[in-house]
Amino acid sequence: MEQNATLETIMRPREESAEAPDGARKVFVKTYGCQMNVYDSQRMTDALAAEGYRPAESLEEADLVLLNTCHIREKAAEKVYSELGRIRKLKEERAEAGRETLIGVAGCVAQAEGREILRRAPAVDLVIGPQTYHRLPAVVARARRGEKVVETDYALEDKFEHLPPASRGATRSRGVTAFLTVQEGCDKFCTFCVVPYTRGAEVSRPVAQIVAEAERLAEAGVREVTLLGQNVNAWHGEGPDGREWGLGRLLFRLAEIPGLDRLRYTTSHPRDMNDDLIAAHRDLPELMPYLHLPVQAGSDRVLKAMNRRHTAADYLRLVEKIRAARADIAMSGDFIVGFPGETEEDFQETLKIVREVGYAQAFSFKYSPRPGTPGAEMPLQVPDAVKDERLQRLQALLGEQQRTFAAGLVGRTINLLIEKPGRKPGQRVGRSPWLQPVIVDEKAGDIGDIVKVRITEAGANSLFAETIS
Ligand code: 5AD
Ligand code: SF4
Repeated sequence: MEQNATLETIMRPREESAEAPDGARKVFVKTYGCQMNVYDSQRMTDALAAEGYRPAESLEEADLVLLNTCHIREKAAEKVYSELGRIRKLKEERAEAGRETLIGVAGCVAQAEGREILRRAPAVDLVIGPQTYHRLPAVVARARRGEKVVETDYALEDKFEHLPPASRGATRSRGVTAFLTVQEGCDKFCTFCVVPYTRGAEVSRPVAQIVAEAERLAEAGVREVTLLGQNVNAWHGEGPDGREWGLGRLLFRLAEIPGLDRLRYTTSHPRDMNDDLIAAHRDLPELMPYLHLPVQAGSDRVLKAMNRRHTAADYLRLVEKIRAARADIAMSGDFIVGFPGETEEDFQETLKIVREVGYAQAFSFKYSPRPGTPGAEMPLQVPDAVKDERLQRLQALLGEQQRTFAAGLVGRTINLLIEKPGRKPGQRVGRSPWLQPVIVDEKAGDIGDIVKVRITEAGANSLFAETIS
């Protein structure tokens, strides 16, 4: 599963490009979709850095443009094709100036569309699926020789073994928080979701690999790591003892790494929330009290049709158990409105479960039929106007809960990880344990410090805090 799939990020590690030697080839990676794509874009940038490519400041100056795409909801492919149209013009302009430009499509649209991309957008030089990013340098080399390359097979070798690690400089330029993918793919087959098709079966990275990557991050100054996976709490990697470990045990191991003071993980499935993981929330101060645990819908009939394999009552019992382990945990979730067959009564059940849980943060979407998924073939597709109207009502409730949660923090003293300069001079921005941006005076501390601050005000999208003297 993917959190915040609406997020669109453009990767432009400015500090790195400032160091680029003159004449080096440059790559511009544009990232769509979830955090897993953000992580993948960084790893692709790292793989190309080993071949002499430096990050470009803008699309215009890039010798290689890579679109790292997302396929989770509708119009993703169409968006990619229209972006490719714009980039083709750029390619033509650069060609007139005697400069070659390669265009690549990566990510889930690349996996799903494959060769079709070359047919519809002949300016594209390479198409590469998420399972083969370690082959990117070889694929780019072939494309530079004039070949059109489509690389979407599932690789037999371990991608992560073959991807070069980020340089210390690259890690530093990305800040004091980092993503670390520990698990890819999904075996759950929720009937609305393309992930099992685009990202394939569930694969867990071994403990030693994850620990080595986390140590490198910590040595470069990273203070907070978010473990990523489409279904991260299903992670079951091989431990150094040759036994299979679960995510709870992995979190305990990572908390031992000096400098790594904050741990998070996303996104989880309720069925994989086992007792060890709940115990980690109880016993591990490094594990932040925030949990993204999508329920998707509140009606048992809809949950069954979605193949979620749990009921609303199961989910509520689970939340109760987690809160018994960690009272201050903030819940976050994903919701889909207008799944085929969803009636007004079913939708009322979604509103009910939202009221019962009380979410600090949430992402909600209109159901979008994805070709090849069972949901797309189901009768009783819900009209768009009904989906719109339900989404509005759900978002009004979720927005109110988010504001209530934030307002409840005013006056409280919290630990803040200072992340970056603020938008206004003299300000810095940090993250609360519950993932909210918090604005403080720059005197509160340096980037990378974890400081105690008192929340003074809850704004629309961020909190404000003062230092405690
Ligand atoms: N339509 C709407 N939302 C979807 N999601 C996944 N597939 C679809 C779809 N076909 C949502 C789910 C998931 C989040 C990443 O995106 O809520 O948890
Ligand atoms: Fe998709 Fe369901 Fe797997 Fe999440 S658990 S990635 S929603 S199939």
